[in-house]
Amino acid sequence: MCGIIGKTGINNVVPELINGLKSLEYRGYDSSGIAVINNGKIGRFRASGKISELEKELEKYRPESEIGIGHTRWATHGSPTKENAHPHVSPNGKFALVHNGIIENAEEIKKTLLPPDREYSSKTDTEVAVHLLEKYYDGDPVKAIVSACKEIKGSYAFGILCEDFPNTLFAVASASPLVAVKGEKESYIASDLCAVREKADLVYRLTEGEICSIEHNEIKFFDSEGKEIEKSADKISVDAQDLDKGEYEHFMIKEIMQQPQAVRNTIESLVSKGKIILPEVSITKGFFKNEISEIVIVACGSAYHTGLVGKNVIEPLCKVPCNVHIASEFRYSEPLVNENTLAVFISQSGETADTLAALRLAKKCGAQVLSVVNVEGSAIAEESDNVIYTKAGREIAVATTKAYSAQLIALYALGIFIAKQRGKITSEQERNFVEEMKRLPQKIGETLELVNEDVKKLAKEIFQSPDIFYIGRLSDYATASEGSLKMKEITYINSQVYAAGELKHGTISLINEGTPVVAIASQCGIFSKTLSNMAEVSARGAKVIAVTDEELRGDVTDADEIITVKNTLKEFKSSLLVLPLQLLSYYTAKLRGCNIDKPKNLAKSVTVE
Ligand code: F6R
Repeated sequence: MCGIIGKTGINNVVPELINGLKSLEYRGYDSSGIAVINNGKIGRFRASGKISELEKELEKYRPESEIGIGHTRWATHGSPTKENAHPHVSPNGKFALVHNGIIENAEEIKKTLLPPDREYSSKTDTEVAVHLLEKYYDGDPVKAIVSACKEIKGSYAFGILCEDFPNTLFAVASASPLVAVKGEKESYIASDLCAVREKADLVYRLTEGEICSIEHNEIKFFDSEGKEIEKSADKISVDAQDLDKGEYEHFMIKEIMQQPQAVRNTIESLVSKGKIILPEVSITKGFFKNEISEIVIVACGSAYHTGLVGKNVIEPLCKVPCNVHIASEFRYSEPLVNENTLAVFISQSGETADTLAALRLAKKCGAQVLSVVNVEGSAIAEESDNVIYTKAGREIAVATTKAYSAQLIALYALGIFIAKQRGKITSEQERNFVEEMKRLPQKIGETLELVNEDVKKLAKEIFQSPDIFYIGRLSDYATASEGSLKMKEITYINSQVYAAGELKHGTISLINEGTPVVAIASQCGIFSKTLSNMAEVSARGAKVIAVTDEELRGDVTDADEIITVKNTLKEFKSSLLVLPLQLLSYYTAKLRGCNIDKPKNLAKSVTVE
């Protein structure tokens, strides 16, 4: 949420700040701004709307400077106007500041620490931070940052300019990501490595209130008390291909088509010689065999839906109760987890604030913690004792697709692994699972090809519909949930998901002549039950779209359209069934002229609660 970039160098930094903001636009895109120091004075330029609006503003003034900070915003406090856009400047004009995160006690700070008659130029929580810097500044910006941060409750990554230090960029971060990199003649800060990954080989990640002061050829680090510290750097690995749309019109369709590779890479990291291996999991075999009493899976959004699929695979395989929780609920509940609980946290970004808070709670309760994360070095990965990395590569479209598919693989692998440790499956069964898992990348590729044209046609039939419903049972319900979220988030069609048997308890009254109902029907034991639900909505005029596999296609009744995916084991079916649902959302959004990669009001990393 919100993107920060800062640079100090020996050339004009403005073009690079703008490029950096463009690569961060996926984090928030409702307003943006930059601040630079020119002839010893801070200059600030802001615009509401996309970064192209800021470029128009800059065109008028053409500022040049060797130091600057920039911000692209996802509004939390205050609407997305120019006044609320960052950077914010202190009343005396000495400090400019950009912020990612939330200052929870902003109102309290205004009442207790700042003059009562103080006027504020924005409705943001952020502005108090720059007022605090002014209050505590006595010629030493690091000391002022330490004092200001001590008063702030919440999460923050700040990039800061101080007029008295026209060659130095300051930054501090706590519970919001911020990296610093040093190139040869220039240094950078950014809220996400993607904005600066090609600038250097090494990256420093600021955590727990650490502060840095950056000149073009030197970076100094300080702890949250302002004491200078040595900090070690991580190596940056660049996959330039992921940053480019290539032949595709949107990142989303590119990432949908990259799923065979994302899944293949994830499988290769988790299997060896016909067995599941979990290289970064050190939980003892004894825990899985004798001690484990419950598995809880905690996540948000699509990652929560992966958890729902996971439950339907893990519980029957491992014979251990498995419950799935929404992270923003779990973190405020009084969960009955203890040292016999395996708590699994799923997150593509590894930054989601609610998931991170839930993880900390589970740790406090003594649970064994394991995370499924796509971004290495992210906060959730760092704070987990055990990690399964999904190998989806960088995901840029806000709506997740390839990371979701990679997460499914991680959960299948976890289920098979635990089932084997507990003696619930034999070595031969494990080998059979692994063999079929290894066939999945090809089946995903074949399914994408098989369904693509049919789905495109279908999108033309439904794209003007005001509502759409998704139904399914058990793991098909989980897949339907993901399909429905994908549809609403990028097409803005009112899309709802129901467990198929639940429809007649109220929802069926919403079905009208021609209402599209996407029914996922792939589970043999309950197939006829889902068919009955399809018949019920069909009888009330719904346009029923069945999504099933080759094995069951011939038995489908009461469907206006049938979309068919390849066959696989029942445990892995969700990996194929979700594909036409992703494509249906994509093609529908395209026909509706939506901003597919950056849907309105959303952001890729949700670092606020
Ligand atoms: C939907 C989507 C979101 C994320 C959710 C969790 O397409 O991408 O629902 O799944 O915000 O994000 P992560 O996985 O980064 O924790």
